[in-house]
Amino acid sequence: MADTQPTADSSFTDGAWIDVIRKMDETYSELLKYQVELEEKNSALEAMRAFMESVLGSMTDVLIACNLSNRIVQTNAALVRQTGTPASKLIGMLVADLFIETDRERLSNMLFAAAANAKTQRLELSIQGSNSAELLDIHAAPRIDPRGRVVGIVLIGRPVGELRRAYLELNNAHGTLVRTQEQLVHSEKMASLGRLVSGVAHEINNPISFVYGNAHALERYVGRLEAYFDKVQAGAPREELIEARQTLKIDRAVANLRSAVAGALEGAERVRDIVESLRRFSAEGNGETQLFDLVAITRTALTWVVKAHEPRIHVAVTAPEKLLVEGRGGHIQQVVMNVIQNACDSMEGKESGEIAVEITATQDEAILRIADEGPGISPEALLKLFDPFFTTKPVGKGMGLGLSISYKIVKEHRGMLTAVNKSSGGAMFEIRLPLSWQGGEAER
Ligand SMILES: Nc1ncnc2c1ncn2[C@@H]1O[C@H](COP(=O)(O)OP(=O)(O)OP(=O)(O)O)[C@@H](O)[C@H]1O
Ligand SMILES: [Mg+2]
Repeated sequence: MADTQPTADSSFTDGAWIDVIRKMDETYSELLKYQVELEEKNSALEAMRAFMESVLGSMTDVLIACNLSNRIVQTNAALVRQTGTPASKLIGMLVADLFIETDRERLSNMLFAAAANAKTQRLELSIQGSNSAELLDIHAAPRIDPRGRVVGIVLIGRPVGELRRAYLELNNAHGTLVRTQEQLVHSEKMASLGRLVSGVAHEINNPISFVYGNAHALERYVGRLEAYFDKVQAGAPREELIEARQTLKIDRAVANLRSAVAGALEGAERVRDIVESLRRFSAEGNGETQLFDLVAITRTALTWVVKAHEPRIHVAVTAPEKLLVEGRGGHIQQVVMNVIQNACDSMEGKESGEIAVEITATQDEAILRIADEGPGISPEALLKLFDPFFTTKPVGKGMGLGLSISYKIVKEHRGMLTAVNKSSGGAMFEIRLPLSWQGGEAER
């Protein structure tokens, strides 16, 4: 060392020394600058690391980064919570050891596919927790380095147990709702059946009492005629027979006999007609489409709903004698009955009122309008009129299903059911039906 030491008088001039010192100064100050920069970078890195840690820590999804040997290199607090194993122990573990044994093969296939295809894979697998296994929805994505090479896999797992439970509960609630709705629709059907039955009972009552009265009269006449013929048979003298004829009012009996028979027949025919229309009602309601007379159906509905129950309500019908429409007559009759029932209900409490029914037809459409003299429909009610369970009637009076069922039936016929308020007050419902069947399932 001593021989290489330069000496002032041999190789270094003063100027050279000054140069060296200046260089050393520069180098020192550059070093200082680098150190400051390094410290700045270091603290930025530290901040970034803390930020990443807080993000990873607050994730509820499980995060596992592993290398190509499928060993864990990074994870987050969610996995620590899930497995009950500290992070320090998790790092370096084989990722497969986290999962339940039966899922391990599927996991390694997924890891292999993610690395080989450089594409995200997805599976539902269960991680072994400290107490029980938890099913996770796992996404496995390849981890790529800055040069584009796959250096490992990142797994993100979302617990699906909660979701499943929530879904099951929702599904159960939905099932209960559907069943309740079915029950309500059923009781609505029972209610309209009840209305129908009482309408029919009332309708049949008249002709039956007519038949009954006439049959009684006939019985009386028969009794008198028998008494008279007994006398004839016994060979009673002419004077006695003339007297008996007067006292037994035989002439009147004979004269009334025909009208009593005619009356009984008329009543029986009326009953037969009612039974016939009932039979048609049930036959046409069974899903078969056929030609039915909209006018007849409407008149029957008016009789059953209004005339049988509401004598204070006047009915005015403007209609052709007959209007044949193709479809399900029984169903349409139900629609007409629902609308007429609503019209009656709208005038409840009024001393009198009128339901005006008009039936017309275009070339390819039948139009049935039913107008009442009730208060009309409020703007809010107009918006929800055809919604199931929308009703403004008190509990027990209406269920709010009449119009929604009617709407569905008319839709099935590819027709239209609409409601407006008349300028003169009251509501008017319009049912439009194609004359020929083009229907099918209702659009929901
Ligand atoms: N002609 C009408 N005038 C005024 N409001 C009406 C008329 N028709 C229907 N509405 C209103 O529409 C609502 C729904 O009618 P919808 O026939 O669907 O059910 P509802 O008559 O209340 O009960 P349900 O028919 O099940 O016995 C009625 O509660 C009523 O507020
Ligand atoms: Mg109704």
